[in-house]
Amino acid sequence: MKHRGYYGGFGGAFLPEILIPTFDELVSVFESAKTDPGFRNQYETLMAQYSGRPTPLTFAANLTRHFDGAKIYIKREDLNHTGAHKANNVMGQGLLVKKMGKTRVIAETGAGQHGVACATMAAKFGFDCTIYMGEKDVMRQRPNVFWMEQLGATVVPVTDGTKILKDAINQAFRDWVTNMDTTHYVLGTACGPHPFPEMVAWFQSIIGIEARQQILDLEGRLPDRVYACVGGGSNALGLFAGFLDDPVELVGVEAGGKGIDTGFHAARLSSTDAGAGIAQGYKTYFLQDDDGQMKETHSISAGLDYVGVSPILAHMHETGTARFESATDAEVVDALKLTMRSEGIIPALESAHAFAGAFREAPTLSRDQIIIINQSGRGDKDIFTVADVLNDPEWKTFIQTKAAQYHA
Ligand SMILES: Cc1ncc(COP(=O)(O)O)c(C=O)c1O
Repeated sequence: MKHRGYYGGFGGAFLPEILIPTFDELVSVFESAKTDPGFRNQYETLMAQYSGRPTPLTFAANLTRHFDGAKIYIKREDLNHTGAHKANNVMGQGLLVKKMGKTRVIAETGAGQHGVACATMAAKFGFDCTIYMGEKDVMRQRPNVFWMEQLGATVVPVTDGTKILKDAINQAFRDWVTNMDTTHYVLGTACGPHPFPEMVAWFQSIIGIEARQQILDLEGRLPDRVYACVGGGSNALGLFAGFLDDPVELVGVEAGGKGIDTGFHAARLSSTDAGAGIAQGYKTYFLQDDDGQMKETHSISAGLDYVGVSPILAHMHETGTARFESATDAEVVDALKLTMRSEGIIPALESAHAFAGAFREAPTLSRDQIIIINQSGRGDKDIFTVADVLNDPEWKTFIQTKAAQYHA
């Protein structure tokens, strides 16, 4: 018998006994929603009216000319309300929370995009909202923290462990165990115990389903390759979902950080540094040492430095259904600069990994080949990080003047 929530040897639900009824309820509400065409319809209507879907598929004429290889298209998830694909998942889970009659949502966030999306959903649906965020991410993503608080959420900085995403997830689970009668944990990516990987991927599949139809409308044919960045894996699974039965190569790009030979990266599938293990309620590839202790991860982008990865992607990696690459921080900044200058588009640092991976390969393809890059989010939130990296003198003067005003 096929075990519930397994993808090959990965996935599952390793839960404290106290959470089992809560998960059973979630599985049952998701299973009935999934098989109810009315629910999918309600979800798609909500995303059209509230989030601006369908997001466009933009032909990148200047990048195409620059690389003189494959035709480059960009799927514009940055144009969702709140600026990232995270909206697809939170609005879907919000509808399920209403069905379950719960009144409070909690979430973890790394880059802050999921936190902002969740706080927005909570405000719209009238739920209380608490967001857990590693203290280090609170520091580097202050603008998103500001917005979450203005939207009415309580942001709790997590000071345990390495003070990043995995620590925020642990804290959110602790909260859930105490408050499960009233509270739903809106996990932000396709990780964690069953049914989260499947459920998040199902909501994100709206990306790939749209992209497939759009490229057929524009080009009359399918793309040769599609590229997406991989943190937990939700935007990648969303894009890939449109092309699973097609002869289309699926490429995931992880955070190569300072280089996969340096130890300072978050490349779980594209390096040999990760191994299969069980943590945070599910089995997947984790960056861990020989004693099974989680390693520190590094990426210029807060949204990609998670220590695990979706069990669905781990399985796709093992079966060769998708290919996984990495891009270094330096390559990502170059890709971001080139995209801004040539297309007038500002991708998030996370998304810029997908661009960097695609730019490496586009010139090796012929002019009649087509690729799609998923722009999972917009780059506004990264202005502090990017200005630091570019060492922009006028930005520094602006910050210093602002700081002086606060001291006055
Ligand atoms: C814009 C953006 N892209 C990608 C990611 C990575 O998440 P996932 O791999 O689940 O798509 C994040 C996470 O915060 C994000 O904010």
